[in-house]
Order: sequence, then structure tokens, then C-alpha cells
Amino acid sequence: MTVDAPTWSLESWTNYPVAQSPAWPDLDHLADVTTRLAAQPPLVFAGEARRLTEQLGDVAQGRAFLLQAGDCAESFEDGSADKIRDKLKVILQMAVALTYASGVPVLKVGRIAGQFAKPRSQPEETRDGVTLSAFRGHIVNDEPFGEESRRPDPERMLTAYHQSVATLNLLRAFTKGGFADLSRVHAWNQEFVATSVEGQRYALIADDIERALRFMRACGIDLSREGSLHSVDFYTSHEALILPYEQALTRQDSLTGDWYDCSAHMLWIGDRTRQVDGAHVEFLRGVGNPLGLKVGPTTSVEDLLTLCATLNPSNTPGRLTLISRMGKDKIASHLPPLVDAVRTAGHEVIWACDPMHGNTFNAQNGRKTRRFDDVLEEVRQFFLVHRELGTWAGGLHVELTGDDVTECLGGALELSESDLELNYTSICDPRLNASQSLDLAFRVSEFLQG
Ligand code: TRP
Ligand code: MN
Repeated sequence: MTVDAPTWSLESWTNYPVAQSPAWPDLDHLADVTTRLAAQPPLVFAGEARRLTEQLGDVAQGRAFLLQAGDCAESFEDGSADKIRDKLKVILQMAVALTYASGVPVLKVGRIAGQFAKPRSQPEETRDGVTLSAFRGHIVNDEPFGEESRRPDPERMLTAYHQSVATLNLLRAFTKGGFADLSRVHAWNQEFVATSVEGQRYALIADDIERALRFMRACGIDLSREGSLHSVDFYTSHEALILPYEQALTRQDSLTGDWYDCSAHMLWIGDRTRQVDGAHVEFLRGVGNPLGLKVGPTTSVEDLLTLCATLNPSNTPGRLTLISRMGKDKIASHLPPLVDAVRTAGHEVIWACDPMHGNTFNAQNGRKTRRFDDVLEEVRQFFLVHRELGTWAGGLHVELTGDDVTECLGGALELSESDLELNYTSICDPRLNASQSLDLAFRVSEFLQG
């Protein structure tokens, strides 16, 4: 699949093993759905994906920072305007804190408007002698343990598409229509956040920003004409897991003739689907979008170098983001040799830190959870590794929600295992709540300054 690889086509991935593929019960139905999907308009425009690659190029070269954040898995039951708005509020708050502290542009990329598919460690689940498909996210099946709800249903791809359209439409309205205007910096501090220590720390920065804006106005600068103050570029991303869906939304750009996966601006390959001779790598190497690649503790130096060469043969800065997800106990031993080898080979990549996925465990009541302190510890070590190697710690990748959930332990409110039941609403992994997210952004700000 490297230099002498056969030519890529929209369907060349079907010649390779497809990890994590749902057991679709009716392939004709699947084909019918993908035909209908392929007739729908794209969600994003190729030019937007190219612009993101360009901006990510600045991250690769140490002049900007990437904030990628959102749900573990979006839900069909939960696509309301309020939920989308509140998630956007936290991400904007985090971006403000990071921009203010680091003094470099912060790219805002959501795990949103398409993040519906989940890889699973077991394809099936058995309860009381009954074996059914594992829950693979709402784009495939449903969570309740039942024959009907666990059966993979391709119609769900159309629902996922339409919910993504609606979500992205609202995000575009919010980010371009005044909601993200810097003059509203205080308004993103939700009431339950504002009363927390982090919320108060945020309010101080917001005061500073308002003062700076007043100062500039007093100096005679016409702020109404400074477009960048009034809107943000907000990009979408998800794990490209269900390849029939991604293929159906992949279109040839009429300007350049290149192929773009127009289901989102940025797509990433998960730790379970990054096989160098697998279908996911084959498919994604052929699309022009910026790509992410999750890098876990089982990633070998050799595989990573092959993947860099395969996914970014032209070595374009911004094309490839390596998202380290080692876990706090493994990062110190596993990450440095990888970073060093990639640099020595001359690959221009972004290194981002996902401090969530390597730190998940089951609480005593069986709930999946993560300790906020473990998340912080992994982030701290990530920055340390890059400081020692002289490379740029370019990004943060987190699972969060704008709600006041109790899914991760610790944080300023010191959530304990018994608190997990209070408001645990994730359909998959535990997410940081709004104040934990803001807290994390402040810690990262400190690393970026130090
Ligand atoms: N457009 C600039 C940016 O994206 C400034 C900006 C406007 C901003 N609204 C924002 C920054 C909200 C962070 C959050 O950086
Ligand atoms: Mn997850």
C-alpha cells in the first residue's frame, strides 16, 4: 500500500480486510441505502477541508494549537439545539483560555455532526445465554439489549446523515451569526460553571478581553470592521469507521479533481482500525481531507513510519495529526521513541494528546469512568515528552459535554464513585463535564506558557 500500491479508487478499500465492520444482515439493503446517501448533498465543501489543512499546517510548524473536542458518541435521542449550543459554549471557553494564555491561534474542531460510530473490543455481547451484536453506535444499531435494537440497520446511516446536517447547520449559524462574537465572551459561561472556581477564573479572562476590546475602540479602531472578532472557524470531525457511509459521501472536487470525504472536514482512523494493510487506511489515504491517526501503546515504530508514509506521501504539513492515547502509566515509556522516530524520518506531523482513552476503567458499580487526575497526568507528561525532545505539543483531543454530568471522577467538585449515578448520560465513554473541561484548558494553558 506504499509507493508501489495499486491505484486508489472509491472502492479499492473493499479489497482489504475491514476491521470492526458490523455484520449487516441484508447487503442489498445496505447497497440501497448507500445509493440513496450518495445522491444527497455533501455536508462540507472541499475548499473548507483544504483551508483546515492549511491552518493545521501552522500547528505542525509550531505556530498554532489544535483543540479537538466533543462527544464520545453522539446520540439520535439527543440532537437538540440546547445540547449543541452548550457543547459549543464549552469549546469556545476552552479556546478563549488557550488562546489568551498561549498567544497563538487555536483551531477549533468538534467531535460532532457525524461522530456516531463506535469500535468495540468484542463484536458480540452475551447476557443470560443470549448472544447479540455489540452496540456500535447509533449509526449502526441501538443500545438496549434486544434482538431488534441490536440488529445492524443501514437505514440508520440516513438518520445519522440528516442529524449531522441539522447539527452542522446550527453550528454554522452559531459560529458565523453572532453567537461566537468575542463581545459575548461572558455569555458562554453557563450558570453552573460560573459559580465554580474555573468559571470564576474564566470570568477574569473575559473581563480582560472586554477591557482590551474597549481599549482598542478608544484608540479609534473600528471593531465592527474586524471580521475575525465576530465569528470563528469551527470544523467538524469524526472517526471514519463505517466505510460504506464514508464512501457514499466522498465526492470529486470540481476545482482540483481530487477526492474529498465530505461527511466532515477532518476524519480520523481509530486505534483498532489502523492496520497498515487494512481497509480504513486504504480508503483514507485517497481522500484530500486532513486526517487524524490514533496512536496507542501497541503501535510499533515500524508501523507508525509506514502509516505516515502511506497517509501523507507528499509530507504536507497539516495533512496528518498523530493523536497519542497511551494512558498515564505508559506514555513516558511509549511516546518518546515514536516521536523521535517520526521526527528523524522527517515526517511533518502534528502531535496531539488524547488523555481520555488510555485512562478508562470500571468503577465498582460497573460504570465506565476516568479520573480527572489521570487525565491531567497524561497531559502533563505529554508536554514533558515534547519539551525534552524539542518538538511542538500541538493539540488536545478530549471527550466532553456542555452538561453538568457526573461521568469522570475528581475535578474541582471532587466527584466520587458514588456520585457517578447522579447524572451519567453518556451512551459510550465517560466525558468531562463543562467545569472539568474548563479546568483542563487552564492546565494546558499553563503548560503552553511554561
Ligand atoms: N476569530 C478568532 C478566533 O477564532 C477570535 C474569536 C472570536 C474567538 N470569537 C472567539 C476565539 C471565540 C475563541 C473563542 O480565534
Ligand atoms: Mn470514546
